[in-house]
Amino acid sequence: MLLFLDTANIDEIKEIAGWGVLDGVTTNPSLASKEGKDFKSQVKEICQIVKGPVSAEVVSTDTEGMLKEGRECAKWASNVVVKCPLTPAGLAATKVLSSEGIRVNVTLCFSVNQALLAARAGAYIVSPFVGRLEDINEDGIEVVAQIVEAYKLHDIKTNVLSASIRTPMHVTQSALVGAQIATMPYKVFKQLVSHPLTDRGLQGFLADWEKAKAVLTSYATTTKS
Ligand code: G3P
Repeated sequence: MLLFLDTANIDEIKEIAGWGVLDGVTTNPSLASKEGKDFKSQVKEICQIVKGPVSAEVVSTDTEGMLKEGRECAKWASNVVVKCPLTPAGLAATKVLSSEGIRVNVTLCFSVNQALLAARAGAYIVSPFVGRLEDINEDGIEVVAQIVEAYKLHDIKTNVLSASIRTPMHVTQSALVGAQIATMPYKVFKQLVSHPLTDRGLQGFLADWEKAKAVLTSYATTTKS
């Protein structure tokens, strides 16, 4: 499963990209608006740091507007993926943009039926929102699992991206049900690497190493004199 960061913050992206495991970035208007920079320069900067797909969302609600924005965003860098909402206008825009060779991430997906529509429109990625389904007491991971299953049964190539991830457990569960991609906030990405036994184990190894060095040094000093 590919691991994406869900942020528009350059420092966060640089830090995780530095680990060598960042496959892509997703942004949305809420995330982009927090950064206080114009959207185009944000996306261009992100695309220079991350070579994988970088999703940039349109804000128009009509098809013509989405097409105009989508075509414009797609020119900013070759790894831009245009994000369109799962609405009738968004599906129509996805159909046209995909036919023009522009990759589209259809976002705000909450059901298998919506995911089937996104696939028929030619989406490169569909983004079911796990956390927001849980917010209304529905099983977000189960929806991801069903979309993965339906796509498999019908040999659909659209990638399933688990979005609105709030916990490291959501990442594990997304991987286990076969999502191709999970996008997560910086805080969750950092939690993926942390384990108290790793920290304790490393401390033990380093302490033993220092002790061994001290013994060797004192042995060398004794044999010289
Ligand atoms: O990837 C979609 C994400 O940005 C939404 O997350 O936590 O606001 O539901 P959240």
